[in-house]
Formats: sequence, C-alpha cells, structure tokens
Amino acid sequence: MTDTTPAVDLTEAEAEVDLPEIGDESRYEALMQTIRNRVTVRKFDPDYVVPERHYEMILEAARHGPSGANAQPWQFIVVRDQDTKAKITEYFVAEQRFRAKAKMKFPTPDYRGLATAPGFIVVCSDMRWTNAFPVLNDGSDLDRMYHENAERILLQSVAAATMSAHLAAASLGYNVWWVTAIGQEEAQNAMRPLLGIPDEISVLDIFLFGPPAAKPYKRWRRPMEEILHRDRYDKTYFMSDDELDDWIRTRRHRVMYKDASKID
Ligand SMILES: Cc1cc2nc3c(=O)[nH]c(=O)nc-3n(C[C@H](O)[C@H](O)[C@H](O)COP(=O)(O)O)c2cc1C
Repeated sequence: MTDTTPAVDLTEAEAEVDLPEIGDESRYEALMQTIRNRVTVRKFDPDYVVPERHYEMILEAARHGPSGANAQPWQFIVVRDQDTKAKITEYFVAEQRFRAKAKMKFPTPDYRGLATAPGFIVVCSDMRWTNAFPVLNDGSDLDRMYHENAERILLQSVAAATMSAHLAAASLGYNVWWVTAIGQEEAQNAMRPLLGIPDEISVLDIFLFGPPAAKPYKRWRRPMEEILHRDRYDKTYFMSDDELDDWIRTRRHRVMYKDASKID
C-alpha cells in the first residue's frame, strides 16, 4: 500500500530560530523522554511497513545536524527492497562467523536480525570532504596529523547527524540499531555494487529501526559522578590498564546484552 500523506513541509521550520525562554524546562523533559527511550534492539517485527513520511521525518532531523565547516558530509540510502536487505545481512553474518573464528573475544551479536528491520538506512560519507577541514595537503608529517584530525571531524559530523535521526525515530516510537560492524574496505567493496554506491563514497554505518520483536530493555548507564569533571580532570574514576582490561573481560558482555536492572 502506498502512503499518500504529503511529505513534511520544511520551509517554515527552517525559517527562524525558535528557542524557549532560558530555564523553561518543558521541552527538555520531552527531549529527555525520547533520549532515555532510544533503546537498541537487534531483532524487529519484519511485517511492519514504515510509512514513507517517517523516513523523511527521520532524515529531516539528520539534515539539521551540525558539521565541521558546515560541510554536511552525509548521504542516506533508504533500503526498502527485502532482497537487498538480505544480501547486506549476509555480509554481517559472515563477519560474525569470521570474528568467532578469529577469536576476537568480542561478544558479537546475531546479525541475522538486520534482515528483520522494517526501517533500513545505509549511512554514507565522502571522505574527500576531509579536504574541507584544516589540512595542508603537502604530504608532510604535519599534514598527516591534520588529516587524522580531519577524519575525526568528518566522522563526528556524520555521527551527530545520525544521532539526530536515531532520536527522531525514537520520538516516533521506534526502537533502533546502530551498526558499524563492517567498515573494512573489503566489505565496502562488496556492498557498493548492491546499492550503486560510487567508489569515492564510504559506508560508515547502518541505521535500523522499527517495532521490536520482543520487549526491549534498558542498558546500564554510568552514573553522573563517573563522567562529570569540574574545572579539572578528576582522577577518582581513572582506570589503570589492568582495570580497563578487567572491565572488558568481566563487564562488557553484561552491559551490552543485559537489562540494567539485572546487573549487580
Ligand atoms: C558508534 C556506534 C557503533 C555501534 N556499532 C554497533 C555494531 O556494530 N553492532 C551492534 O550490534 N551494535 C552497535 N552499536 C550499538 C551499541 O551496542 C548500543 O548502542 C549500546 O550497547 C548501548 O545500548 P542502547 O543503544 O540500548 O543504549 C553501536 C553504537 C554506536 C553509537
């Protein structure tokens, strides 16, 4: 069935900056409600069909993201074809198997869930946009350092827009899944022809959303005192190499796959 609802009218929303009075907390509460309920699931209800309007509403949030030099170095491919979804899923499942064999010890999720996602958006960027950020382009060591930073600027920019899209999806009641697992060049080369992506364009991640297949659960969050520093870096929670290794060995799998209320 085709959705005939008109696409979002963007012109008025773009026309002016409309912030609440400083201190008015009403919109903050509404935003936090969405932020807290942006919860990852890795299996969706495959029978749900995302209304076309929702894709535009979600990507409208991405479009307003901040970016280095206001370059807006992002492109989004909405994948609706089930066969294409299945082919992309195959790569992730193969990666899952490879990781198991390579003994990475990373608790890799079940990527078969990708094919169940009604909302399926491939997030791309053009790494040549790094040239829009402060670089020398003279092949020097200094230039390499600036290029490394330029790459960070680009990745942070795309992540900022992607996060806005995830929040927009959550605000519409969807669960989400942010998948970066196959950034490697080999996987990129395999995916490009499936989606007609030019060689200059990189796939950075895949954004899945939809109604969950099972009841979602909230994952563990670090308490505020562990992340907030005032005026100087507070070393109370600073971890040694051993402590960090121990955290990865004993806690990582639990914070990834367990309900926060069930973690001691
Ligand atoms: C940059 C980034 C990369 C991620 N990559 C993957 C991934 O490759 N596979 C996966 O299953 N989840 C991935 N996730 C999802 C995280 O595992 C998830 O956000 C985290 O466990 C916290 O759970 P929550 O989203 O429910 O709060 C990624 C999330 C982010 C922000």
